Amino acid sequence: MADLMWWQKAVFYQIYPRSFADGNGDGIGDIPGIVNSLDYLQDLGIDALWLSPHYPSPQFDVGYDVADYTGVDPEYGALEDFKRFLDGAHQRGIRVILDLVLNHTSDRHPWFVESRSGRDNPKRDWYVWHAGKNGTHPNNWYSTFGGPAWERDSRTAEYYYHYFFKEQPDLNWRNAEMKKAMWQAVRYWLDLGVDGYRLDAIGTIFEDPGLPDHSVPETLIELGLAAYHAGSEAERKALAEEYKALFKYQLDLPEVHDLMRELRALVDEYDEPLRMLVGETDEIAFYGNGHDELHMNFNFPLMRTERLSPAWIRANQKERLVALPPGAWPCNTLGNHDSPRVHSRYGDGKHDGALARLSLALMLTLWGTPFLYNGEEIGMTDILFDDVGIFRDNLGVWFYNAAVNELKVPPAEAVRLAAKFGRDKCRTPMQWANAPNAGFSPEGARTWLPVNPNYAQGVNVAEQRDDPGSMLNFYKRLLRFRRQTPALVAGDYQPLHEQAEDYFAFLRRSAADRQACLVVLNLSDKAHTLNFEVMPRTARCLFSTSKTEGARHDLSELKIAPFEIYIGELA
Ligand code: NOJ
Repeated sequence: MADLMWWQKAVFYQIYPRSFADGNGDGIGDIPGIVNSLDYLQDLGIDALWLSPHYPSPQFDVGYDVADYTGVDPEYGALEDFKRFLDGAHQRGIRVILDLVLNHTSDRHPWFVESRSGRDNPKRDWYVWHAGKNGTHPNNWYSTFGGPAWERDSRTAEYYYHYFFKEQPDLNWRNAEMKKAMWQAVRYWLDLGVDGYRLDAIGTIFEDPGLPDHSVPETLIELGLAAYHAGSEAERKALAEEYKALFKYQLDLPEVHDLMRELRALVDEYDEPLRMLVGETDEIAFYGNGHDELHMNFNFPLMRTERLSPAWIRANQKERLVALPPGAWPCNTLGNHDSPRVHSRYGDGKHDGALARLSLALMLTLWGTPFLYNGEEIGMTDILFDDVGIFRDNLGVWFYNAAVNELKVPPAEAVRLAAKFGRDKCRTPMQWANAPNAGFSPEGARTWLPVNPNYAQGVNVAEQRDDPGSMLNFYKRLLRFRRQTPALVAGDYQPLHEQAEDYFAFLRRSAADRQACLVVLNLSDKAHTLNFEVMPRTARCLFSTSKTEGARHDLSELKIAPFEIYIGELA
């Protein structure tokens, strides 16, 4: 473990600033709120934070529409607050990475305001402008957030390209001046001492300059709805392929790898401490040769299922780990601000708490760096709003309108679908206490999204803190345990009992740390007596949800309880 970099040993925790902690009581999370929560985070036992965008933004896409790359949104505080946050985190041994949105800016960013002001403006070429074709859009490409990827700007009668909302025009990464300006912004935060970046939507940076039409007959909303109704993994896979074909000319162009190498070289200039880049992509190609592009890319395929079955997990690991280039380090996650919450997604309605604990155990025992999402540690769940007027995620709003207007879905049904498809469900304010507004904001304040009323049923920090059996205390216990167990961090991975349908068993062995652990995650409600033909034949229990720690167990007849998490050190 001694040879590993900090980011290889770390457990990351994602903070969604608007929803994490409201320091000034205005109903919106902010940086002073995060500063006040640093002791909580230290006590929780995480090692690093990923902060979703904190930059000035019109918030059309909740911060992913950046209007100034070197500022702090006044709703979230000032630069001084940010510095206090960074220092406070570092003093507690917690690293901080920021969100870097390279593909697009807000349409209110001064760069775009200039760019759209005239065809001869020096910043015109900083964005992707094209003339229309036959009186309409330059081609048939979609924006992944609905509608055409082109917006006509009446001032100059040309179209600009946007992979996301039209409020998020794409930057032109073939323009050297723009690149220089962006690299300056990247350096700005590194100079301030941040520890790295999570790269937003990194596969969307370049698009085919020849602008060829795609040839998929279905519309985007048709594919979206079909994915929603897909009953099997096979169907979901087939739809994912169609989706890929729809965006074939807009994603993962080879040029992006030259750019990633350039960015990596820039980041590598900072060596005390070394900084880190993690990409919002599951494409292995972004690891480069293992050392020259991004340090890590998310293993998103693991979470693309409705049920974390042992077979699914094993197949994922098998495929993913062999694909990595030599020296590359895996990175696992089960949720973030764009996806359903772990507790809701992988629960079965009956054993949700046990399954949520198993999800954490999976993250903390698989080989690779885990990323957790704020609120998971108290078992926060999705909430589906039944009124579009409450939606703050414009993607949910688009889905609703498209379903009603294009597909003629009855409005009540469309709201239900849109609430599930949209991302508000997992973005509600952090539930700090069983108090008005869940203790996120003072009584009487109007929170930016309503709080989930289940704060009053024990889903809150204050009550769980005092309950030894709570999800929060389980998170703390397992996070601490991982830190003290080098095989779980540095060890290799060897699956066992590969045909088992109910449980997922594997070894993690670190020769350098002289430790080998057997991990058994029973994802079923059935008890099992298992025979592991490993040497030695006994294990000392280090962590279990059913057994006494320290006890020795004979591995030729290891009894595993329903939903048990068992971690034993081979004696
Ligand atoms: C990915 C982010 O995670 C998501 O929230 C955002 O809407 C898009 N990129 C566009 O920036």
